[in-house]
Amino acid sequence: MKVLVLLFSILFIEHSLAQTQAQCPEAGISQISTCYAAYFKNFNFTSTPSVKDYVAAITRQMALGVNGFKEICQWANPRLACIGSYDPVCATATAFQQALGVSQNDAIQFLGFYGATNWECNAGYNDVVSDYYCYENIHMNHDQDRVNCLIQYNNTVIQQGFSCSALGKFVQCYTNVYRKYCGAEGAYIGCNIAKASSVEDAPFCASQMPPCTKSIDVNKLVLLRKKLSASIISQKFMHG
Ligand SMILES: *[C@@H]1O[C@H](CO)[C@@H](O)[C@H](O)[C@H]1NC(C)=O
Ligand SMILES: *[C@@H]1O[C@H](CO)[C@@H](O)[C@H](O)[C@H]1NC(C)=O
Repeated sequence: MKVLVLLFSILFIEHSLAQTQAQCPEAGISQISTCYAAYFKNFNFTSTPSVKDYVAAITRQMALGVNGFKEICQWANPRLACIGSYDPVCATATAFQQALGVSQNDAIQFLGFYGATNWECNAGYNDVVSDYYCYENIHMNHDQDRVNCLIQYNNTVIQQGFSCSALGKFVQCYTNVYRKYCGAEGAYIGCNIAKASSVEDAPFCASQMPPCTKSIDVNKLVLLRKKLSASIISQKFMHG
């Protein structure tokens, strides 16, 4: 999870101020404060923690294994429900900054975690659970591969400025790292995590992100072909 801190601190600096978004109403700001206070309490934080302390708490929780992850979801999903219809208008760096009482940079990072966790605990839940140990292996043992994606992204943004296409290349790089260690299923997870966290503060890039496809496992495909040809052969026999 360490790398994620790095990730969001550089990812959005370039453009997060430039975008024009609908204003989050006061009620939305206070709702997010309330929802987050309840969420943080599960980690025994009585006020907004530093990003570093938050990451440490998440890492401890994830190190408990798949049940640790499931528990995070039991805390994150009520948070999402609590924010309710204020998302997406209030899921912005500006609103998070006010609601959580943090710097813009920290707000961007909390927003990125928010996007990634919401994917992991909903659309991606079954995939993350079934692939949990491989997924954890990347976090614990292959962080450098993910950092390399960041360095590459960083260099592109420094040289050419922020663009959705640079963000798209970053998502692709992240996808490749997950594919390398966790196969097709992992690639699907890595792609979605990178995308969910990136577009949370750059919704205008959403349509330009690479698709996260769930490709069929090669072994399963071979098996499918064999079954198919067997059925064609048997059909030929049956029809003489
Ligand atoms: C919070 O504190 C309680 C009581 O000390 C403890 O049982 C629990 O494990 C702590 N939760 C976390 C996530 O550290
Ligand atoms: C990104 O580039 C800046 C400026 O060269 C550098 O200070 C920073 O360490 C780089 N970050 C990464 C992750 O490469």
